[in-house]
Amino acid sequence: MNDPNGMVYHNGTYHLFFQHNPDSTVWGPMHWGHATSTDLVHWEEQPIGLYPDSLGTIFSGSAVVDKNNTAGFGNDALIAIFTHHNHTIEREKTGLHQYQSIAYSTDNGKTWAKYAGNPVLPNPGIQDFRDPKVMWHEETNQWIMTLATKQTITFYASPNLKEWEKLSEFGVGIGAHGGVWECPDLIRFDHNGENVWVLLVSINPGGPNGGSATQYFVGDFDGTAFTPYTTDTKWLDYGRDNYAGVTWSNADDRRIFIGWMNNWDYANVVPTKTWRGAATVARDLTIRQIEGNWYVASKPVAELGAITELLHEVPQQVVRSNASLKSITGSLPATYRLDFTARADRDFTVRLKNDNKEWADFGYRATDRQFFVDRTSSGDHSFSDRFASIDSASRIDTADYIEVSLLVDVASLEAFADGGLVVMTETFFPTTDFNDVVLQGETDQVFTDLRISRMTSIWK
Ligand code: FRU
Repeated sequence: MNDPNGMVYHNGTYHLFFQHNPDSTVWGPMHWGHATSTDLVHWEEQPIGLYPDSLGTIFSGSAVVDKNNTAGFGNDALIAIFTHHNHTIEREKTGLHQYQSIAYSTDNGKTWAKYAGNPVLPNPGIQDFRDPKVMWHEETNQWIMTLATKQTITFYASPNLKEWEKLSEFGVGIGAHGGVWECPDLIRFDHNGENVWVLLVSINPGGPNGGSATQYFVGDFDGTAFTPYTTDTKWLDYGRDNYAGVTWSNADDRRIFIGWMNNWDYANVVPTKTWRGAATVARDLTIRQIEGNWYVASKPVAELGAITELLHEVPQQVVRSNASLKSITGSLPATYRLDFTARADRDFTVRLKNDNKEWADFGYRATDRQFFVDRTSSGDHSFSDRFASIDSASRIDTADYIEVSLLVDVASLEAFADGGLVVMTETFFPTTDFNDVVLQGETDQVFTDLRISRMTSIWK
């Protein structure tokens, strides 16, 4: 898989579609794979949702519930809005090979029919013209499409999902521009009755630690144009492996995000056999103000509690530096969660390690206020010279203590610091599981409220 697509909540089911090539573990003719869940934790794979057709293969896009039957496919029809990528036109090098189309489902997402009038938004002469994210805009009573157009975002409006009119363009002279802009998402947050808007924009390459990453802007959207409050570039995740993520549509007041846990720097060559590419855990996004500046915070969804079994807790006590958690709990399971609080004025390092001298570090350097992940010795990195890296992220929060949650799976770490103001998601390929953790700290560093939990399987 690569990008998550068409995420929509409908009748108690979370639908997750994804960029998928059913015939290979490397990128190829794109389909929309399909998985469903009732709790965002346990997933069941479904038959493929969208197949390539005469207009092209099926690139990224979104899905909505058409509550008022604006498109005429039925009340509460599910409608997918996606990019058709036409490989024949691509070979002609006119740059006209991407355009937007729709498909609908009237049986709760089980089967899909493509609209006979596709494409609904033909290519106007823009080489990179893709990844439509559509939402209903209450105030102006119309659908808004947020579309990646080369290195800008273009907003379109429609009364019926079939006819689209250009509204405005965002991104000239602002944001990171190391590569093409992809997979945007315009998200409304309610802050004490006021709307605050966040625009997610994935970029490849040009991420803060190399390759693919997702930047965001916080500002206002008036139904026509997006105006950011500030001109600085912020990143949803500073790790190397969280790309093309967007949020669920129709999920009430929750803004639930899933990203693709990979990086185009090496996505096609990571050393896996029966699968390649995975999604992050579902995360709730919220907005927070730190010293007058707005940020997005990401937190693993509370539903993960269903697969979290507390193994050991050290409440309000100091865990000494260089403590091996294995010596407290015995070997850690292959998948676990570690929560703790540490002093912000002292360095600390959490080393995930195995019995084969391989390790990955997550830590914090107080002098320059940097979080970091070091995966240079985490196992196989021979497949790409862009993989072994030490990645860093500036701390945003100013509190005296840093709260950390680490979600460790056999091939990934999802690290959340300061309530998810700084996130680092990183993959690794050790020869055996990281079954021990060593907490290291500068003199007088303390680790309090330590909880080690087993994460059990998401597969039923
Ligand atoms: C992002 C992306 C999208 C595109 C899809 C193709 O990873 O390049 O822009 O729609 O992947 O698989």
